[in-house]
Amino acid sequence: METIKPREFLEAITEHQIFVPKDHHFTGPAERQEPENHGSVFHIEGMILANLAKVLGGDVLEIGTQNAISSRYISEGLDQNGKGVVHTVDSYQRWHEDPSWPRIVPHACHSTDFPVRPCSWAHIDGDHSYAGVVKDIEVAQACGCSVLVFHDCHERLLQHQPPSEAILVIRDKLKQGWNLTYIDTPAGVVVAEKCQEKETTKKSSRASRSTSKTGGKSSSTK
Ligand SMILES: C[S@@+](CC[C@H](N)C(=O)[O-])C[C@H]1O[C@@H](n2cnc3c(N)ncnc32)[C@H](O)[C@@H]1O
Repeated sequence: METIKPREFLEAITEHQIFVPKDHHFTGPAERQEPENHGSVFHIEGMILANLAKVLGGDVLEIGTQNAISSRYISEGLDQNGKGVVHTVDSYQRWHEDPSWPRIVPHACHSTDFPVRPCSWAHIDGDHSYAGVVKDIEVAQACGCSVLVFHDCHERLLQHQPPSEAILVIRDKLKQGWNLTYIDTPAGVVVAEKCQEKETTKKSSRASRSTSKTGGKSSSTK
């Protein structure tokens, strides 16, 4: 798996035109705000989501809303892109439709009950157990997502109680047919980009990097 620093990834996907979003830990209703390192994405990770949303557009599937901090980063990136919404799913949904945030569409359900619809990419940050991540990947694939962004992939999180086992699932289940980029952020982010059908060999996936929107450009900057 390619390993890359956040700034390199951002420069690569934006062709050096990095978009700087607001700090969404402190936007939205007061009761949906929280400082960094309380379970939501760190600001640099939110920046990655916002820039992906700006470059890729939507619609986006997000599994794991909590206070919708990551959703707000994605929403601001979609604003920059000009289209798309983020369908954000949480079995304990605390975000309600808000006219100030029209691009955030909350769903109060377990990820496996999400009413499947076409989405171009996904942010997976829900149940971090091995079985939970496997199921979340299946939901994202059912929606047709060709880019999967995983939060909480740092190796040290395997020692947490409960652990985040996302990195194990990525290594086991996405080792073929996906270009994987590990971004060295505080919690560890992996971007998995689906190879074209005919490009599942290592040799051809390497070639695909020069044309792809995410893993391709990021890998080339290492
Ligand atoms: C780490 S928090 C999400 C943080 C959020 N992405 C952010 O950065 O602002 C995980 C959330 O996922 C929810 N969750 C866990 N497993 C889920 C599942 N299988 N389906 C839906 N929601 C789930 C939990 O209720 C929790 O609110």
